[in-house]
Amino acid sequence: MPKIAVTRWIPDEAVKVLAEAGDVAVSPADRPLTTAELHEFAAGASAVVGMLHDRLDGALADAAGPGLKVVANVAVGYDNVDVPALAERGVVVTNTPGVLTDATADLAFGLLLAITRRLGEGERLLRSRTPWSFHLGFLLGSGLQGKTLGIVGLGEIGRAVAKRAEAFGMSIIHSGRSGRGSVSFQELLERSDVVSLHCPLTPETRHLIDAAALRAMKPGAYLVNTTRGPVVDEAALADALEAGEIAGAALDVFEHEPDVEPRLLGRDDVVLSPHLGSATVETRTAMAVLAARNVAAVLAGRPPLTEVKP
Ligand code: GLV
Ligand code: GLV
Repeated sequence: MPKIAVTRWIPDEAVKVLAEAGDVAVSPADRPLTTAELHEFAAGASAVVGMLHDRLDGALADAAGPGLKVVANVAVGYDNVDVPALAERGVVVTNTPGVLTDATADLAFGLLLAITRRLGEGERLLRSRTPWSFHLGFLLGSGLQGKTLGIVGLGEIGRAVAKRAEAFGMSIIHSGRSGRGSVSFQELLERSDVVSLHCPLTPETRHLIDAAALRAMKPGAYLVNTTRGPVVDEAALADALEAGEIAGAALDVFEHEPDVEPRLLGRDDVVLSPHLGSATVETRTAMAVLAARNVAAVLAGRPPLTEVKP
């Protein structure tokens, strides 16, 4: 039976699918493997099921050996995968699009509500047992109706966020693709009351939100990031918040994940969540099962369901 190396815990439903295709080895470590551990773990594997914190590249393929046929990333983003290097070695790469669209859009919208309605601040106030009473000027946030949401990256998730925003009475603009509501990135920054990031991390989008972009945003605007941390220059974001250049930021992902820029941690105009975009029971199960089916297909000589083409 071919060896299938799974770099971290996955739901049982997915293990079952894999077990029909090979001998499944799941890393017992309750943490990301180091590069050396990952390479050692993958040695002799025909398939690697990897997580977004794993570097899945040519060195991994070389460590696995010539029997490696498929690398299945349990994520829609694949900035952690060196697709050309794997393709060069004849290794198929797959990701998990589609199944996490709604969960991620829900979380983006939840963060949008949390930052504009100051929910983190309110919760911290109660938990610190600070005396309070209802009054008309207490913890006032910013309404959404009639405001403009700027979506950077109108892919599946961006469109799902737009649908939610429409239901809340927001106007939607987006950058990056032509079509209704399409504007330049600069115009999007200047017009949006909330900027929500849904572009993949690529060399072109690294630090897309830098000091200049933050300065172009309205002073009352909010930034929401549920894609990948390095799309935002986190130090520049802390500077912009300190200078009052924008009103707040809600972040699910971090430039140096799992670390968070220390200046953001103490700020009340920041809402933070630990990369929970796809974190529902249903979605995580669907992601892992899709990754497992991709592995099973390739090992059986069939085409994968959701291949990342080089
Ligand atoms: C999660 O961040 C993913 O890319 O699936
Ligand atoms: C608010 O709680 C209201 O009743 O208006």
